[in-house]
Amino acid sequence: MKAIVQDQYGEADVLHLEDIDAPTAGTGEVLLKVEAASLFAGDWHYMAGMPLAFRPASGLTKPKIRVRGRDVAGRIEAVGPDVATFQVGDAVYGICDGAFAEYVAAGVNKLAPKPTNLSFEEAATVPITGTTALQAVRDHGQVQAGQSVLVIGAAGGVGSFAVQIAAAFGGIVTGVCNTAQMDVVRSIGAEHVIDYTREDFAELGVRYDVILDTAGNRNLSILRQALAPKGRLVIVGGEGGKGKLLSGFARGTLRAPLLSMFSGQTMKGFVAKENAADLVALKDLIEARKVKPLIDRTFSLVDVPQAMRYLREGSGRKGKIVISL
Ligand SMILES: NC(=O)c1ccc[n+]([C@@H]2O[C@H](COP(=O)([O-])OP(=O)(O)OC[C@H]3O[C@@H](n4cnc5c(N)ncnc54)[C@H](OP(=O)(O)O)[C@@H]3O)[C@@H](O)[C@H]2O)c1
Repeated sequence: MKAIVQDQYGEADVLHLEDIDAPTAGTGEVLLKVEAASLFAGDWHYMAGMPLAFRPASGLTKPKIRVRGRDVAGRIEAVGPDVATFQVGDAVYGICDGAFAEYVAAGVNKLAPKPTNLSFEEAATVPITGTTALQAVRDHGQVQAGQSVLVIGAAGGVGSFAVQIAAAFGGIVTGVCNTAQMDVVRSIGAEHVIDYTREDFAELGVRYDVILDTAGNRNLSILRQALAPKGRLVIVGGEGGKGKLLSGFARGTLRAPLLSMFSGQTMKGFVAKENAADLVALKDLIEARKVKPLIDRTFSLVDVPQAMRYLREGSGRKGKIVISL
C-alpha cells in the first residue's frame, strides 16, 4: 500500500510516499480502508520530534512510528480478535497511528460510527480537535448555560469546534480571530467577534466566566485581566513557546495551576484523553446539527508534505486541513 513515511525527525522534507506492507488488525483492532485523514498541530510535533520532552514516547533519535497521521475516517476492511462492536463494511471515524496511508490498523477504543450526515472528509476533521474542544468546554471550562465564554483562536481547528460546542451548551460565545475569519466565526455561533489585529480583548474591560485559549501567545497576567474573579481559564495549546524542551507546554501544566493556588480563578492546561465515548458524544452533537466541521483546504495523499508546510506556515486558515484518499 502507499503511505507517507519518515525515517528521521525534521521539517516536511523528511516525509515521502513509499510502498509498504499493509498492516493487519491485531487484538482489539480493525483494519480500515482510509477514505480521509486530517492534519492537526500535533502531526507537526510528531514529525519534528519537538518539543524534546515528547521524545521518550515518540522515539529518542527517530520516530518509532514511521507513518504519520492520526485523525482518520474510513471503512472497516477486516476485524481483529476480540472486536464485537464493529463489522466489515462499517463506516467509522476516530484516532489511530498511521492515517496517512491507504490502510491502517486502528484500536476500537478510539473509534466510533461515522456521523451519518458527514462525508468521510468532514468526519476526518473531527476526532482529535473535536475531542479536545469537547473536553475543554465540558470538563475543564465546565461551561453552563448563560455563561460568557471567550474562545481565543476561534477559526482554528480546536477553536472552531469549541465555539460551536460552547454555544450548544448554552454559552454566550465571543470569538477572537483575524479580520478575514470574522464572518465564519459568526456563522458557527459566536455572538460577538473580536478582531485580534485591531483590538486587544484584555483592554476592552469585559471579564468572561470561561476563557479557552487555543492560540497560546498571551501571557497569563493578560489572560487573567479578562477572566471573572471566579472564572476558569483553560489553556488548550499554543505554538508560541520558545524553549526546545517543553515549548509552550510549561505555561498550562506548571505556571497556571501554580497561580490558581493563590487566586479564586481556576487556570489549567490539559492533554485531551482520546476515547470512543467522546467520539460518540461528538457524533450526537453533529447529527443534532449543533456542530459542523469547517474545512479550509483538501490535499491528496502524495501532497501530505505540502499540507504539512501549509499547516505550519499558513495563517488565516478557516478550520481544518483534510487529506482525501
Ligand atoms: N491540549 C491538547 O490535548 C491539544 C489537542 C490538540 C491541539 N492542541 C494544541 O492546541 C493549539 C491549537 O491547535 P489547532 O489545531 O486549533 O491550531 P490552529 O488550527 O492553527 O488554530 C490556532 C488559531 O489561533 C489563532 N491565533 C493566532 N494568534 C492569535 C491571536 N493573537 N489571537 C487570537 N487568535 C490567534 C490562529 O489564527 P491565524 O489564522 O490568524 O493565525 C488560528 O486560528 C496547538 O498548539 C495544538 O498543539 C492541544
